Amino acid sequence: MDHALKGGKPENLRCDCLILPVGPDRTLGATAKHLNELAGGQIERALSRGDLGKGAGRTLLLAEPTGLRTPRLLLVQTAKQHMDAADFRKLVRAAAAALVNTGARDAALCLDDIAVTDRDPGWCAAEAVLAVHEETYRFHDYLSEPGETLKVDLASFNIHQSSVARASLNRAIKDAAAIAEGVATARTLGNLPGNVCHPTYLAAEARKLGQGEKRMTVRVLEEKQLQNLGMGAFLSVTAGTEQPAKLIVMEYRGGAQKAKPLVLVGKGITFDTGGISIKPGAGMDEMKFDMCGAASVFGTMKAVVALGLPLNVVALVAAAENMPSGSASRPGDIVKTMSGQTVEILNTDAEGRMVLCDTLTYAERYKPQAVVDVATLTGACVIALGNHASGLFSNDDTLCTELLQAGENSGDRAWRMPLWEDYQQQLRSNFADMANVGGREAGSVTAACFLSRFTRNYRWAHLDVAGSAWLTGAKKGATGRPVRLLVEWLRSHVN
Ligand code: BES
Ligand code: MN
Ligand code: ZN
Repeated sequence: MDHALKGGKPENLRCDCLILPVGPDRTLGATAKHLNELAGGQIERALSRGDLGKGAGRTLLLAEPTGLRTPRLLLVQTAKQHMDAADFRKLVRAAAAALVNTGARDAALCLDDIAVTDRDPGWCAAEAVLAVHEETYRFHDYLSEPGETLKVDLASFNIHQSSVARASLNRAIKDAAAIAEGVATARTLGNLPGNVCHPTYLAAEARKLGQGEKRMTVRVLEEKQLQNLGMGAFLSVTAGTEQPAKLIVMEYRGGAQKAKPLVLVGKGITFDTGGISIKPGAGMDEMKFDMCGAASVFGTMKAVVALGLPLNVVALVAAAENMPSGSASRPGDIVKTMSGQTVEILNTDAEGRMVLCDTLTYAERYKPQAVVDVATLTGACVIALGNHASGLFSNDDTLCTELLQAGENSGDRAWRMPLWEDYQQQLRSNFADMANVGGREAGSVTAACFLSRFTRNYRWAHLDVAGSAWLTGAKKGATGRPVRLLVEWLRSHVN
């Protein structure tokens, strides 16, 4: 999809659909008033008939407005005169959803009458671009009739502002498109079925990401190498499957030679049956999404490359499949981690922490500025936070503040959970240094506590995205979260 910034008079804009925000209670901004006059009062008449109705985000499509050069005028109602960021997000989402239901192939959103508290026009333009990408995203690789999922392909979505086009607005639009690509990448990797998207597939995707990109190095560690590194926990997860596990390493060098890297770690369980501690059958298909942490790391790296961020960023993806078989790990098995600590596997379904702990130890070699892991780690996190917030755990208050802020700024929010010493005792084992599960209570906290035992040597945060990374029910599918949070966080480290 193309994006451009359009200036000049809105009535001269040629496009298939012009999106025009109107205020609540039939109030019109200056540009809306002007267009209403040109259209012989058509907008006001529709509003006074009550065609738009009351409520933020309501939309109304007017056909062939007179005096304009567009066959479609899409009115969208703002929440209040002074919108905040959340109001504006709602507005552009609603507009984008209505837009894809028209037959328009190119559209423009008029920002003239828009003001959002504490946000500049660049932010507004970026949000609009991201919303349109979100709403036009489809996963139809496996449909025999893919054409019917979208009315038409939206070829271009433009931002209109009557005042002179400014470079910063153009930059914001371009950057938003790059981030949108990252989000779409994460969604597609997440949506791909487990029989296609296995660890070998992910490794190939990583190599593709690095192809022709001088600043990016991609390496893939095979099981033999994981063995040599002493990654007994990681390997215990892959014991029951035919699919070879991979530790995928992507190193992006956009910053100063000596600048310490920011490291992202993704849980990439391409299918989680639970192993010998097998999961119930109902809904198990959704465990193809158990690599959404990894998918978000891929999507973020894609955006980082496209944005050309002047930072050093390392991505580590722990890719494996968790299957039951005669060679699978058993409950009660004891393994030695790369850190030297031993773990008693009380439940083979707590496999995410097993692949992550060794990967987190591996991260030490980068002497990182900070490490953030992303994982669909616990069902308990879904119970605690639902799909609205990702769970955030950290051993560093500053890092925590940065990530929470990045979540607020991007609308891809996280909420901090405790990592208190009090919870650590739940991981006690009679036979090893620790057990891999801590019982039913505070399941997402004890999972994070487990990881914290492998991250003592650097600033670390853990995002449990079990609730936020995909939706269930009629809207079943990957959301691409927390790509926006992560990209926002990385960008906050520029300068
Ligand atoms: N991938 C799951 C977590 C999960 C479950 C995410 C459901 C989203 C929805 C993870 O590997 C897992 O199975 N965790 C167990 C941990 C338990 C055995 C301590 C869980 O949450 O039940
Ligand atoms: Mn599991
Ligand atoms: Zn899992």
